[in-house]
Parts: sequence; structure tokens; C-alpha cells
Amino acid sequence: MRLLVTGGAGYIGSHTSVLLLEAGHDVTVIDNLCNSSPMALERVQELAGRSLRFVEGDVRSREDLNRAFEGGIDAVIHLAALKAVGESCEKPLRYFENNIGGTICLMQVMEVHGVQRLVFSSSATVYGQAESVPVREDAPLRVTNPYGRTKLVMEQLIQDWCAAQPKASAVLLRYFNPVGAHPSGRIGEDPRGEPNNLMPYIAQVALGRREFLRVHGDDYPTIDGTGVRDYLHVMDLADAHLKALKYAVANPGCGVFNLGTGRGYSVREMVAAFEVASGREIHCRIGGRRAGDVSELTADPSRANEILSWRAAHDLAAMCADTWRWQQQNPTGYE
Ligand code: NAD
Ligand code: UD1
Repeated sequence: MRLLVTGGAGYIGSHTSVLLLEAGHDVTVIDNLCNSSPMALERVQELAGRSLRFVEGDVRSREDLNRAFEGGIDAVIHLAALKAVGESCEKPLRYFENNIGGTICLMQVMEVHGVQRLVFSSSATVYGQAESVPVREDAPLRVTNPYGRTKLVMEQLIQDWCAAQPKASAVLLRYFNPVGAHPSGRIGEDPRGEPNNLMPYIAQVALGRREFLRVHGDDYPTIDGTGVRDYLHVMDLADAHLKALKYAVANPGCGVFNLGTGRGYSVREMVAAFEVASGREIHCRIGGRRAGDVSELTADPSRANEILSWRAAHDLAAMCADTWRWQQQNPTGYE
């Protein structure tokens, strides 16, 4: 297929693009590089042994999108978004404009070009503090911050867009906590500044770039008091996009799927696993709870297992080993 990947230079987009190229698809990436490096795309092509087309541009610009759709596109994988929860609380309008505005503009240009297949990056954040875990897709949706609100609104806009066209198909993928890197160590997560998320933080402490990990609370009602999440390997996540595309081709309408392993790990368990993978000690200090955090969130991935025939294959040891290889080979990321 001829595929457009928005945000394809980013963490998840780069890993997904490798698999799409390896599967023989023609890939165009549109990215404004606001949170990524063009070097990621060079390495994607090196890993896949094939080239892709890169349009440096913004999904809020029809002109840029029109350039990306030139030559024909069969389906779009829409990952371009801003994703920092804390920043979204300080600058909500920036998030509404970029994420929601970008998605509306994208759907408008898709309509002009007659493209009716869309795979969308949603997030487990749409469940907020779930009443019970693991969560199924029909659990109540409640967001706790502006970033989460953009994901929920984008899901709803896509559902309405889909409902208005009998032949359109959309797949909403609710990612839990993606971690890890390509096993080559050539591409990986490259956060700018101080990482917000746990795994890149732990990796930087192991490397000596940061002195210690601040554990955000050890008084949660979990196995050891620290927060529990459903971490999944980014290569498994990338693979889910291929399965979602196949599903979109065969099934008009809008599907929604949780993407996680179904197994939760606490912060302490993550630290212990990373210490084994890296052979380094991770210094920790216990801090207070982080605002907006939930104690435990894990996926029930049964729908994706059954309907998409997708299942997370990598275990926690692989997630840590691959993160560590990427971090060691690229101590300052793509710089
Ligand atoms: P990322 O920041 O690495 O990638 C996003 C890419 O989109 C970046 O390359 C950025 O430059 C680009 N981008 C942003 N706004 C753009 C715009 N207006 N026009 C063009 N390009 C733009 O993030 P990621 O971790 O790869 O996340 C990809 C998607 O998955 C996002 O939609 C994110 O919200 C979602 N998601 C991520 C996680 C996670 O933990 N990483 C979890 C759940 C959902
Ligand atoms: C965060 C986002 C969420 C987003 C998800 C994936 C918040 C409130 N939520 O979720 O919207 O979808 O990332 O990108 O930011 N932790 C520490 N010390 C740290 C960092 C994290 O103890 O320095 C703990 C957290 O309290 C949590 C766990 O590690 O218990 C995972 O945190 P993180 O990686 O930030 O992911 P989420 O909180 O699940």
C-alpha cells in the first residue's frame, strides 16, 4: 500500500516505519520535526534497506499535506501530536490547536484526495483513573488533563467522520506504555530535556547522565506501594499498526483496540529489571505522588489479540535490554 505516516520521525513512528518498509509498503512521512530528528529517518531507511519519502511539513497546513498526498495515498497512520502532559496543563491551547486542529485538517485533506482509511494513535490516558483493572475498551472514558482531552476529542471526531461515510474505516489504537527500542540500537526514544516518562529516566540514571530516579510515591495501594503500568515493547506496538491496517482494509467502520501486554509492573520492578539488564545500580529517592497520576493502569488486550491477531511478544527483559543498548550506543540521543 501507499501509506502516509504523520509524525513518522518520532519515537513510535520511526519504529513503525521500519516495519512498514520491511513489509513492502511505500511510505511517505510528514513531520515538522518539532520533537524529532531527521537522523531518525535516515536510520529507518538504513535498517529497512529501502527508502521512504520525507515531507518536512505540518499536519495543520493543507499545503504541506497536499504535497504529502501527491502521487496517491491508500491509508494514513496518524501519529503526529504533542504528548507532554505537564506542558499541556500549562499551554492547553497549544495542544488543542496542534493535536485537534491537525487532525481536522488531516481529515479534510484526506477527503479531498479520496482517502478513507485511518489508523490513529490514541492513548490509555483516555481511561483516567479506571474503576477496575485490567481495562477493557468499553470502560468509561474520563480524562484528567488537556493532553488526554485532545486524545478523547480526536477519537470522537474520527468516529463521527467515519460514521458519515459508509466506506470509511478507522482504527483507534489505545497505547498503554510504550518502551524499548529497535534491537539494533540504531533508533529509540530521544526525549528532549529531562524525561517525563519512567523508562527513559531510568536509562539516563543508569548511564550516569542523571544522579537518581525520583520515585513518584510509594504509598499507592499496589504490590509495593509504587505505581503500576502496562509497559509494552515499541516493536510490538509497531507491529500492531500493520495488523490494524489489514483490519482497516477489510472492515469499514471504526474499531478501537487496547494495546498492552495485560501484565503490570511497578516502578520498583522496572528499576530492578533495568539493573539486571544494564548491570548498573539505579539510585532512587522516594518523592511525593505526581499530580494527575493513577495508582494502577493495565490493559485487557483480548480484543486486539482476537480480532487483530496481535499479541505483545517481548517480555520486560527485552524491553530493558533494548532500551539499554540504544541508550549506550547513543548516549545523547540523535545529537
Ligand atoms: P514523538 O513526539 O516522538 O512523535 C510525534 C511526532 O509528531 C514527532 O516527530 C513530532 O515532530 C511530530 N509532530 C507533532 N506535531 C506535529 C505537527 N503539527 N505536524 C507534523 N508533525 C508533528 O511521540 P511518540 O511517542 O512517537 O508518540 C506518537 C503518538 O503516539 C502521539 O500521537 C502520542 O500522543 C501517542 N502516544 C504516545 C505514547 C507514548 O508513551 N510515547 C503513549 C500513548 C499515545
Ligand atoms: C504518562 C502520561 C500519560 C501518557 C503516558 C505515555 C502523566 C500523568 N501521564 O503516563 O498521559 O499517555 O505517559 O506517554 O504524565 N515515575 C516515577 N518517576 C519518574 C517518572 C515516572 O516514579 O521520574 C512513575 C510514575 O509515577 C508512574 C510510572 O512511573 O507510576 C510510569 O510513569 P510514566 O512513564 O510517566 O507513564 P504514565 O504515568 O503511565
